[in-house]
Amino acid sequence: MVLENLNLECKQGEMTVLVGGSGSGKSTLISLLERFYAPLSGRILLNNRDITTFNLRCLRSKISLVEQEPILFNTTIRENIAYGIEEDQRTVTDKESRDAARIANIDISKFSEGYNTPCNQLSTGEKQRVACARAIIRRPQILLLDEPTAALDSLSAETVHNFIREQSKSGQTCLHITHRLSTIQNDSSVQIAVVDYGQICEQGTYTELREKQGIFYRLSTTEEKSGDNTKF
Ligand SMILES: Nc1ncnc2c1ncn2[C@@H]1O[C@H](COP(=O)(O)OP(=O)(O)OP(=O)(O)O)[C@@H](O)[C@H]1O
Ligand SMILES: [Mg+2]
Repeated sequence: MVLENLNLECKQGEMTVLVGGSGSGKSTLISLLERFYAPLSGRILLNNRDITTFNLRCLRSKISLVEQEPILFNTTIRENIAYGIEEDQRTVTDKESRDAARIANIDISKFSEGYNTPCNQLSTGEKQRVACARAIIRRPQILLLDEPTAALDSLSAETVHNFIREQSKSGQTCLHITHRLSTIQNDSSVQIAVVDYGQICEQGTYTELREKQGIFYRLSTTEEKSGDNTKF
């Protein structure tokens, strides 16, 4: 069983950071929230309503997901950002594209073709940022991020993290999976949940979990020793 006896509450308008070793079940949890598949037992509630009672399209319209390995369409930056919008409203103004790109820290000035640059010319980290812009442009109620900063340098990762924080301050509920514990250490309000063997084994703020000297402490110490950028 990948996840068992897992109990997690994510408060509306807050950011919950999910950490844990590779294979502990973090991405599986996101797949269950998106209803890519259903739990064998237990329930997932959204505002006290079982997510299986939502029309699937309606449920997914409330959620934006930035995946571990973002898949972009073989078109321009502009069109890829616009794909975040529902099909029947898919006209994005230049200002909306600009705002989304700025928030996701895309330096559009470096591309001679600007927003018309084909995405196959982007680096992995740049693609990841386009995926972030696509996720936020429709202002979802829930933002799910599965290691969006894995391919970024520390500075860009911190900028993207700050953008995610801003999103949650504007009322979005964020669930953010990350291996980069250094990006959350100065953020005392972030709730961290540690997944181990398919369960939430520790929960609290960065400082609380460090003081506990348990799994989180070990994960963050390993990251410090390996020099901040690397994943454990
Ligand atoms: N479709 C699947 N069918 C069967 N087992 C799966 C499937 N997807 C994942 N698993 C298993 O479930 C476990 C948890 O996988 P998951 O992808 O949720 O881990 P993770 O915590 O996201 O890891 P990582 O940090 O490496 O991304 C792993 O042991 C994996 O092999
Ligand atoms: Mg994963």
